[in-house]
Amino acid sequence: MDIIHISAECYPAAKVGGLADVVGALPKYQSLLGHSATVIMPFYHGKFSKSNEFTVVFSGYARLGHANLAFNILKPVNNNLGYDLFFVDIPGLFDRENVYSYHDDTERFITFQIATLNWLNTLEKTPDVVHCHDQHTGFIPFMMSKVREYSRFEQVPSVFTIHNGQYQGQFGFDKLYFLPPFHSYFNGLVEWHNLINPLASAIKCAWRVTTVSPSYLDEITYEMKGMEELLRNERGKSYGILNGIDVEVWNPETDPMLEQNFGLKTLEQGKKACKDSLCNQFGLNPDKPLFTFIGRLVGEKGADVLPEVIYNVSKYNPGEQNILILGSGEKHIENSLLHLESEFKGSYCSYIGYNEKLSHMIYAGADFLLMPSRVEPCGLNQMYALRYGTIPIVRRTGGLRDTVIDIGDDGFGICHDQCSTFDIIHSIQRAKTLYKDKRTFKKVRKEIMQIDHSWNKAAAEYVELYQSLKL
Ligand code: ADP
Ligand code: GLC
Repeated sequence: MDIIHISAECYPAAKVGGLADVVGALPKYQSLLGHSATVIMPFYHGKFSKSNEFTVVFSGYARLGHANLAFNILKPVNNNLGYDLFFVDIPGLFDRENVYSYHDDTERFITFQIATLNWLNTLEKTPDVVHCHDQHTGFIPFMMSKVREYSRFEQVPSVFTIHNGQYQGQFGFDKLYFLPPFHSYFNGLVEWHNLINPLASAIKCAWRVTTVSPSYLDEITYEMKGMEELLRNERGKSYGILNGIDVEVWNPETDPMLEQNFGLKTLEQGKKACKDSLCNQFGLNPDKPLFTFIGRLVGEKGADVLPEVIYNVSKYNPGEQNILILGSGEKHIENSLLHLESEFKGSYCSYIGYNEKLSHMIYAGADFLLMPSRVEPCGLNQMYALRYGTIPIVRRTGGLRDTVIDIGDDGFGICHDQCSTFDIIHSIQRAKTLYKDKRTFKKVRKEIMQIDHSWNKAAAEYVELYQSLKL
């Protein structure tokens, strides 16, 4: 099949979170299954664009309201990703370093979607399926089916994956004119609760909707920022497909970012070397169990509860553990985390910022990874942790519920039900007991490293879904 993925992020070209990891890996595994998979994304002016060469394969214009904006389609000169990658370069809108959080994100991503379809419209070949990811690409299914300019795509199946329903991209009807002209009869297809909402539009218009885990699909029918009813209405065409991980990039045996590589047979020595180097870097004691957190410092991830957890654990159980946090996000959480450092020097440290290498070192060197998420559509961190022999401590929600089974239920992780200081601390105490029971601890580490979360299964599930849509 000829599969087109459209996304705001794709690793290694641009990454903010798990969306990038998924869009960077799924097409690769679909190509391995014998399909032609392509990713189209915006051209940001970050590290990737500065350190690679590109050729222009198309130049055109995208109309955004009254403006006619020039754009180029770029292709990297060298590409060994295992799938085709194209960039939409729109000077004035995307020649900035970051992916999101600009005042004109609405204009940026609408233009990206229009430019993408304008380009695809000029190609000889019509794709077999267009797979869009998250709200930044949410108008594509609507435009493909209801905008006359793109009528060529009316019969092309569109699949939309909700990676995160917390971000919906809604804006007022005063900006309706940004969208290409369509009959006002279809206004309802871009609207939700009196606002224009790209996420709602995609859920309404895509031929199929998927979520990144089965449990998340169930959860959003009763809680998704006011969109539950819509999800319930569209439940019949929705599927929960659990994400995989790229087991080539995330392989402790070959990962170039680790102090020492390790496999099943060398797990104990390898993890020890990784832990020693990490503890050395952050002034922590390698003989104590190392608890870590990696991620966006936002309420969704339960990061706001971390300072209280760290305070209580460090104050009332001093010398029993180390805690290391890697993340960035809301300023008040960052400040609270930094503030605690001086008080608990030697047993707690945080790195505020984004650091890909450090994240790999932590997955490898940690004993436990905390994920107290309030919302977790899938979560990749727990799967990386498992592969690197690090035991996840998770709140049972979304994809965490689907991937981590509590050790008390013949599983391998530690689970709790609330995102509360009490529940997290209780789990930490359970983890410390496990850590002391060296035999079981080693056995669990060996077991989790062997769990297969590679993309093979999910990539095939997506292809099956696309094939079911063939006319
Ligand atoms: P989300 O996409 O909601 O942020 P996921 O668990 O799906 O959560 O994916 C998060 C990805 O981002 C993982 O690859 C994780 O290692 C990475 N990550 C998150 N925060 C950081 C950080 N501060 N530094 C490095 N990597 C990070
Ligand atoms: C989102 C979700 C996360 C998921 C990722 C990849 O960012 O928050 O849970 O793993 O997308 O699908």
